[in-house]
Amino acid sequence: MKIAVVGATGMVGEIMLKVLAERNFPVTELIPVASEKSVGKEVEFKGKKYTIKSMEEAVMMKPDIALFSAGGSISLEYAPKFAEVGTTVIDNSSAWRMDPTKKLIVPEINADSLTKEDKIIANPNCSTIQLVMALSPLHKQYGIKRVVVSTYQSITGTGVKAVKQLENEYKDVKGDMAYNYPIHRNAIPHCDVFEDNGYTKEEMKLVKETKKILRDDTVLVTATAVRIPVVGGHSETVNIEFEKDFDLGDIRQILHQTPGITVQDNTDTNTYPMPLYAEGKDDVFVGRIRRDESQKNTVNMWIVADNLRKGAATNTVQIAEYLVANKLV
Ligand SMILES: NC(=O)c1ccc[n+]([C@@H]2O[C@H](COP(=O)([O-])OP(=O)(O)OC[C@H]3O[C@@H](n4cnc5c(N)ncnc54)[C@H](OP(=O)(O)O)[C@@H]3O)[C@@H](O)[C@H]2O)c1
Repeated sequence: MKIAVVGATGMVGEIMLKVLAERNFPVTELIPVASEKSVGKEVEFKGKKYTIKSMEEAVMMKPDIALFSAGGSISLEYAPKFAEVGTTVIDNSSAWRMDPTKKLIVPEINADSLTKEDKIIANPNCSTIQLVMALSPLHKQYGIKRVVVSTYQSITGTGVKAVKQLENEYKDVKGDMAYNYPIHRNAIPHCDVFEDNGYTKEEMKLVKETKKILRDDTVLVTATAVRIPVVGGHSETVNIEFEKDFDLGDIRQILHQTPGITVQDNTDTNTYPMPLYAEGKDDVFVGRIRRDESQKNTVNMWIVADNLRKGAATNTVQIAEYLVANKLV
């Protein structure tokens, strides 16, 4: 496979290169791509150096698959150009996610909907992926009526500029700001831009993308997204109301048996997921599973995942693996 990684110098792009190597993805030719300022520089992949190409050069090289993580406007402009030359694009931005003609894929849940005709495939938002990984098997079993989710999101979700802001603030150095406010020793209830309804775009992604991935518009979702000064991953408190009653042990068992989920849930041993320990791992971690005693058929849980891994790079590479395994590219 001739593989282009668009945004190869970014937070997600760097992890994509790592994940492709770790999972031994069949790369015969790698085309790293970034902005004009990085063209000509080198990145390393499996011990070999590769020169960064421009977008135009990469299109002309007609890769089999292009993994995009360079922002929405670049995706809108270039994904169709790659698709035109026969490349299958898997895009990490929000550009195509809610386009009704594009599939929004979490491989464990809905990769079976992919066909050879899907030339632009959307990777969901990081906070949505870890949420639906836990919701999907429970929805099948108990029927979800409503989800209330609050996020505690890593600054790595905002990209390299945010990591630099936190580093500067640690050292008390002035520099570029990724956020409107200091993030060190702070919690900012503002991820992505505000929409007319008073919610942020990140919050509405959780609402809309969840319905699309679960292929069920009847699931009600309400969200609050908060940025915190953490680097290892995103955490979420999730309150789920089901149609049917459940047994807590069964919920743990269902999640335990779901590929891609690790249950860490034992109050006797203080065992629960935390972003510090999720960092660098591909699984979604679930714990603090307990009955909501204020409402029937309702459970509370805590979901943590490395947003750069399952929330972005790993999910993208898993989609590519599915395409290859099913001869869809
Ligand atoms: N971070 C996450 O957790 C996460 C999760 C899911 C999805 N995403 C999405 O993934 C995308 C990238 O996020 P990130 O966190 O990796 O951002 P980032 O660290 O800021 O990296 C951005 C990447 O895009 C490249 N780029 C910028 N302008 C370009 C242009 N005109 N042409 C080609 N390449 C260009 C940059 O290249 P230079 O180095 O040359 O500037 C860099 O490689 C965004 O759409 C984001 O929403 C991020």
